[in-house]
Amino acid sequence: MSVAPEPGIKRELFGSRMGFVLAAVGSAVGLGNMWRFPYQAAEGGGAAFVAAYVLMVFVIGVPMMLAEFAAGRSARRSALGAVRRIGGARWIPLGLLFVATSTIILSYLSVITGWAIQYATDAMFVGYAADAGARYAEVASGGPAIALHLLSVAITVGIVVFGVRRGIEKASLVLMPTLFLLLIGLAVWASTLPGAGRGYAFYLTPSLSDVLDPAVLQGATAQAFYSLSVGMGIMITYSSYLPKETNLNREASIIALSDFSVAFIAGLVVFPIVFALGLSEQIGDSTMGALFISLPSAFSEMGAVGRWVGSAFFLALLVAAITSAVSLLEVSAAVLIDQLGLTRKVATVVSGVGVAALGVIPALSLDALAIMDQLAAELFTVVGVLGVAVLVGWFMKNPEDELRIGASPVFERSIRAARFLVRYVAPPLLAWISWVALRQTITLLTG
Ligand code: PHE
Repeated sequence: MSVAPEPGIKRELFGSRMGFVLAAVGSAVGLGNMWRFPYQAAEGGGAAFVAAYVLMVFVIGVPMMLAEFAAGRSARRSALGAVRRIGGARWIPLGLLFVATSTIILSYLSVITGWAIQYATDAMFVGYAADAGARYAEVASGGPAIALHLLSVAITVGIVVFGVRRGIEKASLVLMPTLFLLLIGLAVWASTLPGAGRGYAFYLTPSLSDVLDPAVLQGATAQAFYSLSVGMGIMITYSSYLPKETNLNREASIIALSDFSVAFIAGLVVFPIVFALGLSEQIGDSTMGALFISLPSAFSEMGAVGRWVGSAFFLALLVAAITSAVSLLEVSAAVLIDQLGLTRKVATVVSGVGVAALGVIPALSLDALAIMDQLAAELFTVVGVLGVAVLVGWFMKNPEDELRIGASPVFERSIRAARFLVRYVAPPLLAWISWVALRQTITLLTG
């Protein structure tokens, strides 16, 4: 009789605490931090949004991250294998949802990563075009966009194929500190701009009426999940490569704080630039447009300095995007390795080919890109988090025991609080947000 292999038992492990934390931060820090957060804060009440966001990150985001960590490290399987092991075969659809969500997000994220490659190289080698809008139209879709998308997928596959320790961890240990340094340098430089004060004011002036606005709270909550990369199996997958002695509670707090810091600092970079050049009226239009049109046109007006700053900015964006892409690809690669018994090489290449093919659609149409973003990043992830909350909150046996491993008694209270929040607070809250997201998606698809 042949015994089924137990891939959950002898699997790869992260080599160091720092490696795991930086890989998880690398996943969490992405376009959402570099643009979406500052932009939403500016639109949705300034400091009021920032406060609501921090509240939601710690009250619900961190507990949900802990739920994913508990599921992943206790099951020691891919995201699909983990939910099945914990909840039984009925939960396989949740695992499949993770695979679908991560694949869709990765397919258009790598298109956008391609733009960042183009803009970084523009800055380094030719300078920014005076007509930033026309340049964006050239770069954003069509043949060049497809080529750059394929290049980003190739880079991502090239990292993931080396595995957890030699690929993901090593890349994170180099890339994340680079990103922090670039951003801090940019923030310091931005503070010297003549528009800095007005930029900060626009970004952070609290608007009291917004504190009580449910739309602000909903926006902050959705942003918290998106930014922490929960709801698509990433944190389940990454934590499945953790040794038992890691204190999951401490790591989750560090990851959330780092993620918030990067988002906050990105706002300190973006708004002074926008205001120094009087581009504030442009930023309302579209998120992507603002990032890839307003900023480059600011850089082009700054001459030589703009090329330096532009290279640094888009390089930072590129790093942020690649480390997120790596985590997304690992979700499906791990499923193929664990569930189908493929080798890492084959699993990574198969996932990469799927993403490369699917990404041709958003590379050809910005409308398709927007629809995929709405569907996967707004709707599927929230449903995914809801699934995790119900699974870990109600079906997993003693998830708090998993969180106690490696944690000193100081953490006892927060473990109990997390358990309560995951069990009772998260499901209704997430059901409500899923409903809001579903209505938005239907409006977008039919409107
Ligand atoms: N968390 C990333 C960000 O803040 C985005 C992301 C979403 C990454 C989903 C991976 C998966 O930008």
